[in-house]
Amino acid sequence: MTGTLRYNPYDYEIHEDPYPTYRRLRAESPVYRNDELGFWALSRHADVTAAFRDSARFSNSHGVSLDPAASGPHAHRTMSFLAMDPPRHTRMRALVSRGFTPRRVVELEDRIRTLTVGHLDAALERGTFDFVGDFAGLLPMDVISELMGVPGPDRAELRRLADLLVHREEGVQDVPAAGVEAALTLAGYYADMISERRRRRTDDLTSALIDAEIDGDRLTDDEITAFLFLMVVAGNETTTKLLANAWFWAWRFPDARAIALGDGSDPAGGDGIEQWVEETLRYDASTQMLTRLVTERTELHGAVLEPGDTALLLVGSANRDETVFTDPDRYDLLRDPSALVSFGVGRHFCLGASLARLEARICLAEVRSRIADYEVHEEDAVRFHSINVRGFAHLPTTVVAR
Ligand code: HEM
Repeated sequence: MTGTLRYNPYDYEIHEDPYPTYRRLRAESPVYRNDELGFWALSRHADVTAAFRDSARFSNSHGVSLDPAASGPHAHRTMSFLAMDPPRHTRMRALVSRGFTPRRVVELEDRIRTLTVGHLDAALERGTFDFVGDFAGLLPMDVISELMGVPGPDRAELRRLADLLVHREEGVQDVPAAGVEAALTLAGYYADMISERRRRRTDDLTSALIDAEIDGDRLTDDEITAFLFLMVVAGNETTTKLLANAWFWAWRFPDARAIALGDGSDPAGGDGIEQWVEETLRYDASTQMLTRLVTERTELHGAVLEPGDTALLLVGSANRDETVFTDPDRYDLLRDPSALVSFGVGRHFCLGASLARLEARICLAEVRSRIADYEVHEEDAVRFHSINVRGFAHLPTTVVAR
């Protein structure tokens, strides 16, 4: 690719395929300046990782989004501790971790499988279906609801509200009115649920968060509401996109598909599922970038970032850095993808990473056990348009039953 190097995450062309632009950014302009939108973009693996680790210089206090409505000192109201620095971040994350424990995630396994099979059987019966609309788009929100203790009859409505949160209208470079309204309704629902659990505890995460305590310090209702809301914002779309990206790329790369579908061609002896999930996370991360607020004058590769500037950490680009991953544009289930940065690095490392991985493994294993092969109808696939979440809005597919 030649010509002027231009990177704007709102461009539909970038949503289609950002990777050639990322390659040029890494090579030609590792600290890229976009004057129109007012940001710097870091694209090399080493720089992205170092910025993640240096949370004093690269602060989360204004949130992690470039969308004007979601960024600024108020961002913590909807993004909870994701939009906080220490010591507030440390306190909140520690308290939440008392309730959101690894054990609670592991114990969800059977329920995730039941929810998966419920959605999957209905879709597979049709043979041809929308992998996102009929399957991958349904599961993550149901799992989050299960975790929180949302009663079954309310879940479909909560899923509808969560979808409205992330929907972006063409030409609007911000959160549309319907999204703002859905956010208020959702937050109101969670606030009511917390009040109810205060009166009568159950064995869900919401009750555990009410009881979480460190040296007498506890979470307030508003803090719990903001955290429940953060789980929806951070854990719903991202997991949906991971599932559909795995489906799409394994179809596009037949060697990978053979391993993913478990034909025994994995010389490493694995069952293929873990590699399928991990390589998808690396190759086409559902979270492409996160913003940081620069707090100190910082010189990097000849550029000078001033306090108050916005820096984008391009996770999607770091995962394709040729100095870290050999032949990075190849979707290869036999590589070691462990240097991926798709869940972030350091103190804000994704709290739901093990849940997302568990969900993806169960889901792909259940699909695989029921099919011999599949086809994606790429010409009818529709990309999701967002500045940081990458994946499909619709992914029509036909499966060949076993
Ligand atoms: C494939 C799925 C997912 C991806 C790619 C993903 C990605 C990320 C990334 C990159 C961060 C770090 C943000 C930063 O440094 O600014 C993060 C943080 C977070 N994620 Fe995830 N996430 C996923 C699934 C989930 C799930 C399922 C949940 C919970 C149900 C979750 C909850 C969180 C929370 C609470 C944080 C904030 C952690 C903190 O600030 O200390 N995520 N996620």
